[in-house]
Amino acid sequence: MKYDQARWTDDDDERYEPLLSEKANREVAVEDSPLPDDLTRDSLELPDPAEPELARHYTRLSQMNYGVESGPFPLGSCTMKYNPSFTEDISRRADAAVHPDRPDSTVQGTLALCHRLQDYLGRIGGMDAVTLQPPAGAAGEFTGIQIAKAYHQHNDDERSEVVIPDSAHGTNFATAAMAGYDVVELPSGEDGRVDIEALEAAVSEETAALMLTNPNTLGLFERDIEAIADVVHDAGGLLYYDGANLNALLGRARPGDMGFDVMHYNVHKTFATPHGGGGPGAGPVGVTEDLAGFLPDPHVRSKDGGFEYYTPDHSVGKVHGYYGNWPVLLKTFAYVTRLGDAGLIDASAKAVLNANYLAEQIPYEVPFGPFHHEFVASASPQDAADAAKRMLDHGVHPPTTKWPEIVDEALMTEPTEGESKRSLDQLAAAFEAVHGEDDETLASAPERTAAGRIDQVEAARTPRLSWQALDSET
Ligand SMILES: Cc1ncc(COP(=O)(O)O)c(C=O)c1O
Repeated sequence: MKYDQARWTDDDDERYEPLLSEKANREVAVEDSPLPDDLTRDSLELPDPAEPELARHYTRLSQMNYGVESGPFPLGSCTMKYNPSFTEDISRRADAAVHPDRPDSTVQGTLALCHRLQDYLGRIGGMDAVTLQPPAGAAGEFTGIQIAKAYHQHNDDERSEVVIPDSAHGTNFATAAMAGYDVVELPSGEDGRVDIEALEAAVSEETAALMLTNPNTLGLFERDIEAIADVVHDAGGLLYYDGANLNALLGRARPGDMGFDVMHYNVHKTFATPHGGGGPGAGPVGVTEDLAGFLPDPHVRSKDGGFEYYTPDHSVGKVHGYYGNWPVLLKTFAYVTRLGDAGLIDASAKAVLNANYLAEQIPYEVPFGPFHHEFVASASPQDAADAAKRMLDHGVHPPTTKWPEIVDEALMTEPTEGESKRSLDQLAAAFEAVHGEDDETLASAPERTAAGRIDQVEAARTPRLSWQALDSET
């Protein structure tokens, strides 16, 4: 059998790289401790690899994996675009230079950079003020909805509901519920977009906000966005923009101009640091002037020809320590600065072109369109998760599966702007191959990867929560 990923054993059942502690150990004496005897030990077994062994161990692990540098990675909504190495270099170097506890006067360069990034993001989103503090998209949502809540409370206008379309990301629902709101789910119209009549029925004087992404998770632009904004604003609510799909609009349209009052940027999707699987991110939040006084503490502003941290008047308080998730923010700054206006416009054009090209090439039904940066195909009658696992055997990463639920057996596909026509054709060939395969083949996939399919039921019912060697009985 030909494998796409390394397997560091000849045995088909054992396709793993041993832990360092299984390879080379050393007994280390523990020095005397002031703690009670029953809380200490005399010695400790620690891994003791030689440096080349260590380097090989991590190289082998990386070869057992699939990443953006292995091949196309069209994980819809996650925007797993290639992360340019120069952003890593810049972030590594600048991160090493500044201790976060240094006084403002000694970190003027760092504050200047934060201030410029606040400004860039504000101009990209059409927002008057931006905080860099939240450390992820979901954290940005939570911060943004807290800001909306604080704003209403400040105006003695207690409201109890947040309206969210049924196609929205799960974090939108979780955010509203965690902020103490009742969620009103908005059914999508037949064309996959917001239905104005359904919206009018859902919105009331209890509506604190409507959370929306545009283009939505089907990759469809909400053409009636101005009418949508009017319905929400007329009821006294705020319009929240989930910025996860901003990649489609960069340099072309701005949420602020569409009537949104508060938004988060998933900078790890739109600019650099792709993080499917839960890696590092940052979720800056932008607001209109009316909401600027509620931004988290601290915020950076210019002062006497320099910059300082300050606490906005009605701040919702702290959402993160120090500068926010600084390395990710640095990568964002590097990416935006390197691309400039023309580069950002080019990026959104290619993101949209690539999604539309790929949608045309695949044999699966794609129920809605035309798209922006992503599309949702239906794997039905195949099981979307099985089809996705089989795509790994054809050498590509699969799309996001089974979401949004309004498409049967959804394959949510976002190729991103960085992929060449060759890579898109490679992806299309994988879709084509899997489309023609029978259920039995799909159900046993993947066969050619380093890790096989796990028994998900068994894993959930009897999880192993600590490392055990594969031949261990327990
Ligand atoms: C539409 C949408 N909103 C919000 C989020 C949450 O972002 P994060 O994963 O950074 O918390 C995601 C993540 O994939 C998303 O796709």
